Amino acid sequence: MTDQQKGFAAAPAATSAPSRVTLHLGHLPSKKNIKAPWPRTPSRVDPNNPPWPAFRGYHEYSFAHATMGVRLPTILGKAIDDTSRTLNEQYSEDVIIDLVACLERMDTLMADLSGNQKLRPIVDDGEADVALWNKEIAKYFQGKDFMNAPWLFAEAYKYRRLHECFSVSKNWKDYDVFYRQKCDTFSRSADAVFELSMRFAEPFKQAENLSDAERAEAERLMFLELTQVCLWGNSTDLSLLINMTEEQIKALQSTGGDHLAATEKNILGNHLGQLWDTVKVLRKKTGGRIDFVLDNAGFELYCDCVYADFLVQSGLAKQVRFHGKRIPWFVSDVTKKDWEWLLNSMVYGHLFPKSNEVERESLRRLGARWKQYEKDGIWIYEQHPFWCTGYTFWDLHSEAPDLFLHLSRSDLVFFKGDLNHRKLTYDCAAPASTPFDQAIGPMANAAGAPKVCSLRTIKSDVVVGFGDDGDDLAEKLDKEEPGWKISGKYAVVLLSEGRPGEKVHFA
Ligand code: F6P
Ligand code: MG
Repeated sequence: MTDQQKGFAAAPAATSAPSRVTLHLGHLPSKKNIKAPWPRTPSRVDPNNPPWPAFRGYHEYSFAHATMGVRLPTILGKAIDDTSRTLNEQYSEDVIIDLVACLERMDTLMADLSGNQKLRPIVDDGEADVALWNKEIAKYFQGKDFMNAPWLFAEAYKYRRLHECFSVSKNWKDYDVFYRQKCDTFSRSADAVFELSMRFAEPFKQAENLSDAERAEAERLMFLELTQVCLWGNSTDLSLLINMTEEQIKALQSTGGDHLAATEKNILGNHLGQLWDTVKVLRKKTGGRIDFVLDNAGFELYCDCVYADFLVQSGLAKQVRFHGKRIPWFVSDVTKKDWEWLLNSMVYGHLFPKSNEVERESLRRLGARWKQYEKDGIWIYEQHPFWCTGYTFWDLHSEAPDLFLHLSRSDLVFFKGDLNHRKLTYDCAAPASTPFDQAIGPMANAAGAPKVCSLRTIKSDVVVGFGDDGDDLAEKLDKEEPGWKISGKYAVVLLSEGRPGEKVHFA
């Protein structure tokens, strides 16, 4: 068949050959507006193939790129400095040799990360999560490296490898390279810490001369304000604030009423009203069980506790369960040690030399009350290994069914912060208008799914739950305010419907 018979333009004489062949397609059907094949059907979703395209380190348009290429090596470099400082404080030879070996393993990790090596299995250090990690690597990430694996997995993997540098040692299994930084940032948050302790040290009471309606309204307003305190407490995250001045931290932590009213404008997906409707009915059951899947230690944890204290005192919650991390995680996340440190230093510490006696007493009283809640089983601190894996929460019901069952007994589960939000939403490029329930998949629609509330200041690419006009809003911000997704200036408060009361069946 000649070209002419095939429908191509006749080949011109060699001397006047055009640089390109142009086809005329006027007889073909007109172009259709084809819908992209997203989201993937749930049966085709897996950790390497999220419902919408994953963010990966080599995507220069994504925060993944700066994080994997620059932030993680910087964080690891600081962790090496911290460990060297600790090394220089040791005196026993065995202990020193053991720590030098940890440092050598950190150097290897730095070389692997900077050289973009393939993700190898986690060494069996006898810990509860090794099987989960290695199953996920073997099933979905064989041959993948730090930059081409989905960002969420690669970043979490780096923190598990960092833990491994210590977990295989004899004397340093639980060493936390971020501990000094976490304590230090809380100590530098004096203004905001006392702003809250001076208001909440005394068990809170409503004014006596109020009608029932006025009482209810006062309680609603207080709830909304404290929810915002808890929310914006998330904007001070150490992994982003490596070089922050005290003044900058103060500005981020301002908790005054005017400031909060103004900041509600920055909540781009706002279910605060629905959240209050959910919480206010818990008192009828003589208080509900509320869970917090925690994010950062220090000031954010302190805000979480102030909020939880209000929920208990007002009779809205009869029990609060706090879920922390088993190992040092994403720099500033809460471990058991950070939890104990906060409560004990509030009561016994000398953290704020410039404070006055009244301020210090307010902090001691608050800390003493919180410790009493713990003794009475009203507050319970837990740490399930699943929280420190590379799995997203779409896999919580399948990979940690015991934890799912446990959470399904809660009346409301708060997920704090950016990383938890990334894990709820599979950290992928979903449109900003995607309804929260759709974005969190099984955490909203599996039988027994509890009501989930994400309190997150936006510090990375994924954004959902912005409402019907959300795609336009996101596009406008992309144009007018580059960097709006990583600044922590904007936030979401998103609540799922939940399917509580339905029986949970596991295969
Ligand atoms: O490294 C990026 C990241 O994982 C983002 O999720 C966020 O910028 C930060 O680290 C952690 O934030 P958060 O403490 O709020 O989860
Ligand atoms: Mg964190």
